[in-house]
Amino acid sequence: MTDRGKRKAAMREAFDSEGFRAMGHRVIDALADHLRDVATGPVLPWRDPAAAFEDWAPPPHDGGGVEAGLETLARWVAASNHLHHPRYVGHQVPPGMPLAALADAAVSLLNNSMTIFEMSPAGVPVEEAVVQWMCSALGFGAGSGGVLCDGGSIGNLTALVAAREAVVGSRAGETGQHQRLAVLASDQAHYCIGRAAQVMGCEFVPVASDGAYRMDVHALEGELDRLSREGIRVFAVAASACNTPTGSFDPIEEIADVCQKKGLWLHADGAHGASVVLSERHRHLVRGIERADSVTWDAHKMLMMPSLVTGVLFKRGDAACETYAQRSSYLLDKSPKEEWFNPAHKTIECTRRNMAVPLYVALQAYGTRAFADHVDDTIGLAQLFAAEIRARGDFELAIDPPVNIVCFRYRPAGVTEDAALDELQSRLRESVLRSGRFYFVKTRLRNGLFLRTTLLNPRTTIEDLKALLEAVRAAAER
Ligand SMILES: Cc1ncc(COP(=O)(O)O)c(C=O)c1O
Repeated sequence: MTDRGKRKAAMREAFDSEGFRAMGHRVIDALADHLRDVATGPVLPWRDPAAAFEDWAPPPHDGGGVEAGLETLARWVAASNHLHHPRYVGHQVPPGMPLAALADAAVSLLNNSMTIFEMSPAGVPVEEAVVQWMCSALGFGAGSGGVLCDGGSIGNLTALVAAREAVVGSRAGETGQHQRLAVLASDQAHYCIGRAAQVMGCEFVPVASDGAYRMDVHALEGELDRLSREGIRVFAVAASACNTPTGSFDPIEEIADVCQKKGLWLHADGAHGASVVLSERHRHLVRGIERADSVTWDAHKMLMMPSLVTGVLFKRGDAACETYAQRSSYLLDKSPKEEWFNPAHKTIECTRRNMAVPLYVALQAYGTRAFADHVDDTIGLAQLFAAEIRARGDFELAIDPPVNIVCFRYRPAGVTEDAALDELQSRLRESVLRSGRFYFVKTRLRNGLFLRTTLLNPRTTIEDLKALLEAVRAAAER
């Protein structure tokens, strides 16, 4: 057989059902072993970036067969950051829920694009069911709606473009009536709000936050007056629910009052925190969120979903269609009203992954209440952890954790200088990370650099967190 013929045969085999079964069993067995054994190895197998980039050569001209592919996959798993390790308490990314990960594999294999109903006749209704589940949990009423998109950053951009359309009319720019436009958010908001403003050609104006890192509503009113005097038109305020550095929730109810009075669009960036609406105990943290015009909500943060699953949810579902109402003869040849079943009318994206399926399957299996319990458990764990930090004289808690994000620093007697304290935190983090025993991050707060943990992992216990404090202290003593 010629080389070309051999390659053709290999490609036929690549789509063979029995070949898939055999590969699948091996991959699942390897991943199940990984879940079983992950806690016995390092969380993050430390490599300096330059060395890690050397580890992965460009792909070969001729493949080495399925065996080579599976070996590479195993090598990649071993070298990855292990989010299922109970001592992964780093950035706001959860360990993927196994059932959802399996559903994700089915999504990958079927590859039904979420652009139009015909391409995903089961996926589009499933997404609508998830969107309605989210809208109803937020307290949005009839007529609300939305779409899923690739992450909180795209979600915030999607919502803010709709905000500008609703308040100003984006097409004003096309007719030459250029006006300086601005969006406001707290100085603690995720950087993607500023980036969305940049993409939109608008200004981003940060509003001062208070001692608990929540937007200061008096400062908001002051900024609105100043911008109005300067002839800059504000069209939206983005409340952080919660923010990234400390997990603090802006006072949404008070911000909603200001927006109502001034005719502004209220967007709530609930990428991390919107999940608290599922919890009776913690829902109060986002009191007033039902008054927002739009909300971004990541299920790939507190809801344990593999990345990415973000809801962009509108109180008035039509707002999205009014914004993204392009036509194209090859895809969207009728109005959004006639083609209400085609999601491409509601979003920036064209081909979209079936993001709803893993969450929908997980909700069928475990029910909404299990997710509410998870929210409660992780916030409860954060409170226990804060108490442990407070109880140790050589540690300092940044603020009482509003949610499952806990910031603290090691502050031994005798180290008082700001620069020395900052340097100490960086070095302690690097030392503990290099040991492979924990993964946690850092953030700069008003009074210096702090170590930062996010508790999203159902496998993490208070014993793991006490061990983290011991590891930090031991590194300092060394
Ligand atoms: C408050 C907030 N908004 C937006 C984002 C961005 O979300 P994503 O990483 O899904 O783009 C994050 C991410 O951490 C966040 O914490």
